[in-house]
Amino acid sequence: MKFFIDTANLDQIREAQALGILDGVTTNPSLMAKEGITGADNILKHYVDICDIVDGDVSAEVIATDYDGMIREGEALAALHPQIVVKIPMIKDGVKACKYFSDKGIKTNVTLIFSAGQALLAAKAGATYMSPFIGRLDDISTDGLGLISEIRLIYDNYGFTTQILAASVRHTMHIMDCAKIGADVMTGPLKAIEGLLKHPLTDIGLAQFLADYKKGN
Ligand code: G3P
Repeated sequence: MKFFIDTANLDQIREAQALGILDGVTTNPSLMAKEGITGADNILKHYVDICDIVDGDVSAEVIATDYDGMIREGEALAALHPQIVVKIPMIKDGVKACKYFSDKGIKTNVTLIFSAGQALLAAKAGATYMSPFIGRLDDISTDGLGLISEIRLIYDNYGFTTQILAASVRHTMHIMDCAKIGADVMTGPLKAIEGLLKHPLTDIGLAQFLADYKKGN
């Protein structure tokens, strides 16, 4: 299972990279705005800064919602850095744009997926990744993890190679449940990743080992 961090915050990206378990980064216009990154040039520079920190794929989202605009923006994003993955919304022109980029060998991440039907379309269009937003489904009392299971079943039925990128992951148990279901990738906040580290018996055991060591030295 790949671990992506879902942020545009460079300090958090550096911290996750330093842990040695980071496989990539996802961003979106809201995450960019949260870091105060505005203006096309600054946003493009920020993507390059992120690519310079991590080794893996970095999703950069198009703003256009029409086919020609998405192609123009996506090509410019892909030309920025070899690690860039063009992130495209799950709308009609987005599906067409996804097919265009996949035919050209440019990596894509189809975003804002909320149903298995949308996931099927993304796979048919040759998406590299597709992002079901599990937390936002949970927010409206709909089973986000259930959607991941449905998509896993459909993709396995037909051998689709599009990677299920569980997004809108909010906490550590989301990560564990996605791992059990077989999501290919999860993207979440650093705090959710760090939650995997924690166990009180680890802390108690370590304190005991150190206390016993001190007794004999
Ligand atoms: O990866 C998608 C993500 O950024 C959305 O997360 O928490 O705003 O639903 P959230």
